Amino acid sequence: MGKRKHTDAAYQRCINPDCAAEFDCGQTLFKCPECGELLDALYDWDKVEVPGKMSDFGKRWATRDNRLDFSGVWRFRDMLNFCADSHKVTIGEGQTILQQNCAVAEQIGMRPDRLYLQYEGLNPSGSFKDNGMAAAFSHAMMVGAKSCACASTGNTSASVALYAHSCGLRCTVFIGSGRIAFGKLSQAMDYGAQTIQIQGDFDDCMRQVQDVCTKLGLYLLNSLNPFRLEGQKTIMYRIIEQLGWEVPDWIIVPGGNLGNSSAFGKAFYELKELGLIERIPRMAIINATGADTLNDLVNNKKLAWNDGKVDQKVIDEYYADLTARNFSPHTCASAIEISRPVNLKKCLRTIDICDGIVRAVTDEEICDAKAIVGKYGLGCEPASAATIAGLRHLITEGVVGTDERVACVLTGHPLKDPNVTVNYHKDKQGKFSNAPIEAPNDLDEIIKLIK
Ligand code: F0G
Repeated sequence: MGKRKHTDAAYQRCINPDCAAEFDCGQTLFKCPECGELLDALYDWDKVEVPGKMSDFGKRWATRDNRLDFSGVWRFRDMLNFCADSHKVTIGEGQTILQQNCAVAEQIGMRPDRLYLQYEGLNPSGSFKDNGMAAAFSHAMMVGAKSCACASTGNTSASVALYAHSCGLRCTVFIGSGRIAFGKLSQAMDYGAQTIQIQGDFDDCMRQVQDVCTKLGLYLLNSLNPFRLEGQKTIMYRIIEQLGWEVPDWIIVPGGNLGNSSAFGKAFYELKELGLIERIPRMAIINATGADTLNDLVNNKKLAWNDGKVDQKVIDEYYADLTARNFSPHTCASAIEISRPVNLKKCLRTIDICDGIVRAVTDEEICDAKAIVGKYGLGCEPASAATIAGLRHLITEGVVGTDERVACVLTGHPLKDPNVTVNYHKDKQGKFSNAPIEAPNDLDEIIKLIK
């Protein structure tokens, strides 16, 4: 049942090379029913009409009155054409910019003209998640879903809640009690999601939501959903677009549940396979030290993609140890406070595709980097600033050359987490703290304070 029909250009396939079971896109699966591994959305490229060169996508700027051409996701629809146009959902996502930022570059010891910040905070719900939701909700419409759910550290829930009411779906979001930044919690409530706070962390929520979705037949919108990752590929297309259809030397991305890194590697692999780019950039994935499963597994346990034959024993032992120690991750970058990332294996594949590396940065480094992005850029939330903190490490190590062109993905808007920002500045916690100054209600005294 549901096995792939070979007339369809798009299909789903299990990432486990020993299984590689294929299913049609009309199925709502999220895990391979045969072996339990992750699924990819894939395409028979000879059945798809793909532009001859990347810059052809740019022609759609001229027809922005077409809602699909206006969307920064669907402008690239040929690369993710798994459903009919009538099912494609858009609320204006992907109108984001790649900002060349000389001042931030100088602060971290780079050649000024080499650093670019891909600011995804400009999305309708204020984070990169909307790219993925435009695609996943289109699949939900295609399969006729009525109710949906997700687990979240905050941004997924905000985005799901917004798209769900736009599409007329009922929506339940699961968040860890006390683990979510206020900006995000306020969005979930305001956009009308049924919000369930579980006494536990994100990993607990992730486990529960899968069982809830299976038992109640809800449509799952976490990044286990292969169609969500298809939407997130477009962040890379837009970086290339804004570099005049050139590929940067490095992409730097925060690592949480590892959906972005997984999607980005797939995006580059496909573009190269189609001859639309000549080379694939390197990728650095940045964990917080308080939630550094990927960093530990890759750099210390030497876990690798290994042509899809990932050493499951290493993962199982690692997670068993976390359980035995009753470990719960902790970082001020609450968005990436995750210790059992569901896309681990796909991320290992990206590391293989992109000659990728992984680093971990402390909360102090994250907060300082966030203040630099705030002071010299468009601002971002803590998890996003991990990219700048990580880049600083890589420059000091000499891994990223000062001449190399680097694009950091700033995943979320600064207003998502005002508490971290205010505490950093108010309590003079860091090098860049900018505390408000108390003044008496007196003109002369006030004037004396102005520098
Ligand atoms: N940055 C932000 C702002 C995020 O919200 C997330 C993930 C990440 C980075 C990490 O991305 O999971 O693709 O590696 N937030 C999820 C959520 C987990 O529930 O909102 P990833």
